[in-house]
Amino acid sequence: AETLRVGIAGLGTVGASVVRVLKEKEAELTRQCGRSITVTAVAARDKNRDRGIDLSGVEWFDDARALAASGKIDVFVELIGGANGVAREAVEAALHAGHHVVTANKALLSQQGLALAEIAEEKGVLLNYEAAVAGGIPIIKTMRESLAGNTINRVFGILNGTANYILTRMEQEKLSFEDCLADAQRLGYAEADPTFDIEGNDTAHKLSILTSLAFGTQISPDDIYLEGISNITQADIQAASELGYRIKLLGVAVRTESGIEQRVHPTMVPTASVIAQVHGVTNAVTVETDILGELLLSGPGAGGNATASAVIGDIADIAKSRPGFQHGPVFGRPARELTPYQRAR
Ligand code: NDP
Ligand code: HSE
Repeated sequence: AETLRVGIAGLGTVGASVVRVLKEKEAELTRQCGRSITVTAVAARDKNRDRGIDLSGVEWFDDARALAASGKIDVFVELIGGANGVAREAVEAALHAGHHVVTANKALLSQQGLALAEIAEEKGVLLNYEAAVAGGIPIIKTMRESLAGNTINRVFGILNGTANYILTRMEQEKLSFEDCLADAQRLGYAEADPTFDIEGNDTAHKLSILTSLAFGTQISPDDIYLEGISNITQADIQAASELGYRIKLLGVAVRTESGIEQRVHPTMVPTASVIAQVHGVTNAVTVETDILGELLLSGPGAGGNATASAVIGDIADIAKSRPGFQHGPVFGRPARELTPYQRAR
């Protein structure tokens, strides 16, 4: 079979890791997929920046949209970020050009996911987004494929690595919020605008995607009650600890008699509970269903390698697929209307 030609837009924490791991694992991936996967083109802003990756023989584009529409690739991998602007335009251009798309961009999907899914489905191409929720944890494939036939009643978890890293280090090392956030940024965990991490927006973006998959609702981050961790102090953490609790930033979507309730907020969880043992950049997602019962997946939620693992899984999925093959709808088709969360206050 012919080589799968991959174009990667965005060569930051995630993009550079994807390029490096694809190269390192070339032989392994060829064996697994039955064909080779080659990065043939990339796009980023600064051509002269040293990214610690070998780009010899790889075509450079200054404009991600030009790469997306170039016709020289089979898969367009969007690792730029942002709900609008270049990322959105490039993904649309790639889908319209009939290319498969892989993205880690939860902000984009939470705003434009359904519209993009409709283009992908119309064009008969795949739109894969495993890395968009909970970093390396394979929660999207699990919910789209493995849990078919299950009726999901609740999905919740720690969906932001940066916030959990901050809360963990504040508790364990008594460090300040600001120092922990600075470290998370240095390690490549945080969003370009870290207020998305600490104010809960990133968790809400991810939760909106999970809610759509779980309950067949429109992806709707605006219907999520939102409260972040920026007001959590060392005193709050120590007080919770003395009472036998840890503070975790949770995203929760639950089926209620009056509709699907979605919320993101700091939560006191008993210190002995499983979720309280999820430390640092680790994420954890619990799915409760009628047939299976309770499923818990946990693993690295952010960072170059963890996210590259999910992105490469999505690319390999495409390499293995037959032309025209789709995994069914990209998101659950809207079957129910959301009941906006009723703010209690
Ligand atoms: P970075 O900020 O590290 O990298 C962004 C990249 O996009 C840079 O290479 C930058 O170019 C490039 N870029 C920015 N604007 C443009 C543009 N207009 N045209 C072309 N390229 C552009 O981000 P991350 O790698 O951390 O994140 C990428 C995506 O992955 C985001 O959607 C993020 O939410 C998501 N994600 C990130 C995770 C993480 O742990 N970091 C985990 C899961 C998802 P240049 O380098 O030249 O400035
Ligand atoms: N900024 C995000 C986080 C990256 O910290 O979880 C992974 O989506």
